[in-house]
Amino acid sequence: MKNHVSIKNKLKDFNKTITVSSDKSISIRSILLASQAIGVSRISNLLESEDVLNTLKAVKKLGISYKKVGNVYNIYGYGLNGFNLKKKITINAGNSGTLARLILGLLVKSKSEVKIIGDKSLSKRDFSRVIKPLKLFGVNIKSKRNLLPIRICGAEFLRPISYNEEIGSAQVKSCIILSALNTPGVSIINSRKSRNHTELMLKFLNYPIQVKKAKGYDKILVKGLSQFKGFKYNIPGDISSASFFIVLTLLSLKSQLIIKNVNVNKSRIGIISILNKMGAKIKLKERKIYNGEEVASIHVESKKILKGINCPPKLNSSAIDEFLIIFLVAARAHGISKFKNLGEMNKKESKRLDLAVNFLKLIGVKVERFNNDIKIYGNPKLELSKNVKMNNFLKDHRIFFLSCITALTIGGKWKIYDKDSINTSFPSFLKILKSIGAKIN
Ligand code: S3P
Repeated sequence: MKNHVSIKNKLKDFNKTITVSSDKSISIRSILLASQAIGVSRISNLLESEDVLNTLKAVKKLGISYKKVGNVYNIYGYGLNGFNLKKKITINAGNSGTLARLILGLLVKSKSEVKIIGDKSLSKRDFSRVIKPLKLFGVNIKSKRNLLPIRICGAEFLRPISYNEEIGSAQVKSCIILSALNTPGVSIINSRKSRNHTELMLKFLNYPIQVKKAKGYDKILVKGLSQFKGFKYNIPGDISSASFFIVLTLLSLKSQLIIKNVNVNKSRIGIISILNKMGAKIKLKERKIYNGEEVASIHVESKKILKGINCPPKLNSSAIDEFLIIFLVAARAHGISKFKNLGEMNKKESKRLDLAVNFLKLIGVKVERFNNDIKIYGNPKLELSKNVKMNNFLKDHRIFFLSCITALTIGGKWKIYDKDSINTSFPSFLKILKSIGAKIN
């Protein structure tokens, strides 16, 4: 079956209201926490993408059942350390770093060995960042060169830890928090700022977790072994998915878009601050707190003149998945843009910083790289008419989305391969693009 799309025309002006797919980080966390609750949890609007479906399969293998009723997933937990494991099992985390890293935290007491495997992209990613703190809890964990497959076997006696998380990785922070739930005593994590959905969800569940804000980091105290009951949760839209449509609107002519019901947690909306500093006038309206998370509708319109930015590195973690698409805006802005300390981009589903530099060169943009910093020479008149063939060897979903938005805004005749990568995070991506007028074959 054909696994590519062809785009030959820029998108014409549009004025639409859309919703994007549900948030991936929150969907995965809601399943993992439901697997630790006592009784049934009811999760509505769960993202039905591969990463999330792999999370459901993973908890099922660990003895947790679930059933979909209408729009709601009912997940039946047995409380903390409530997995029923009688023999060795293998969990396939597919493409998901979040699933692979977070679930390790729930296996610190597992009674038999669990092997975690993943796809080609995940098998290239480094797990030393979670193996190190897990070993401090006293867990038995084995891997070759800190890569998958990882074998973990829980320990009978665990000790709480005090850990400095210096990468600013929410996956590492959350793995430690989940390990701490299953460990007696109080664990302490001094964590550089990163997305805080795990902490907010635990607070929403009235779990004894404390977050003390300090300069540049959070001190998080988690008291282990406090049981909590099944809960109801409704998943909002994903800002990372919305970001492709925000940029599409910004770079199109005379267009307007409203994206309803998007999670606008402060630790996720770096893209909005960055684009507004570049001259976009993106507005958040109908703001409300829902299940402990902030939700809003995003209003964006086209902007003919955008200006380059000297991007403050303190915004890096809140925009980490969005830099690919932010670079496209920098390529079309007036003046030079500078981005610093983006080494973490190379630790994602593919080496995104390396790929971004090649991608920008491919579309005729002058770009300079020095270690993990890049400088993009913007050109407001940037236009393409050539043929472009985009292969995406590690099937990085965000590279596919970026290629489509580039084709629809700067032109060219594009053949974009590995269409199935959209199933990782945003299965309805092409359908929504078509609904606002994009011609895609
Ligand atoms: C995620 C955290 C981020 C992000 C990833 C999802 C999460 O990764 O890039 O897409 O759900 O916790 P890091 O924790 O590696 O920064």
